[in-house]
Amino acid sequence: MLAGHDCLLHGLEEGPARVPVRRWAEDADTGDRLLLSQCRGPTLDIGCGPGRMTQALAVRGVPALGIDIAPTAVALARARGATALVRDVFGPLPGEGRWRCALLADGNIGIGGDPLKLLLRVRSLLCADGVVVVDLAPPGTHSGRCIVRLEHAGCRSQPFRWGIVAADTLHTLAEAAALEVLSVHDHAGRWFAQLQRPADGG
Ligand SMILES: C[S@@+](CC[C@H](N)C(=O)[O-])C[C@H]1O[C@@H](n2cnc3c(N)ncnc32)[C@H](O)[C@@H]1O
Repeated sequence: MLAGHDCLLHGLEEGPARVPVRRWAEDADTGDRLLLSQCRGPTLDIGCGPGRMTQALAVRGVPALGIDIAPTAVALARARGATALVRDVFGPLPGEGRWRCALLADGNIGIGGDPLKLLLRVRSLLCADGVVVVDLAPPGTHSGRCIVRLEHAGCRSQPFRWGIVAADTLHTLAEAAALEVLSVHDHAGRWFAQLQRPADGG
């Protein structure tokens, strides 16, 4: 499904939602570039999909590693020149505790269906004062956990857990994960935030 085919997502909204698989296969757009401008220093692109963000960081001279649980996604990322590995964010990863930046692009704070568990894991990957760059659902969106399925050409994937975090619920979540919110802003309907691991290790 990550190979650029149109795809539907069931379980997130009342009806099926269109998944922007084609966009993931394209190059980073203006909003993506704004998100990427917040990634400074060695960056782990978590759930990199076909690697457009990992590749765009490398083009900017930012050392970047994409990880994705899906081998097809990693093959596509490598084919476009990104450095990427098949890895589960909750499993062993290179450079744990040394990443300057972790990127959760395009709703990837939903990975695993438990945003607090994910942020605690991401926090453990960062160096002291490392930054998480994330995009969020617009304020007022219902935040929570759900079980979703992808559908392509009549075939449905296994159900998997996903989470939604609206921009106006971020502070509570960040506090629970012992992260400081550095910024939250919108760009053409996309909501971007930066969270920082306190330098004192708190
Ligand atoms: C929204 S898509 C990726 C979009 C991509 N970040 C972009 O902006 O083009 C979510 C990705 O997360 C990956 N993923 C899901 N669970 C994961 C996990 N536990 N560890 C790593 N990657 C995961 C999926 O395989 C999928 O490619």
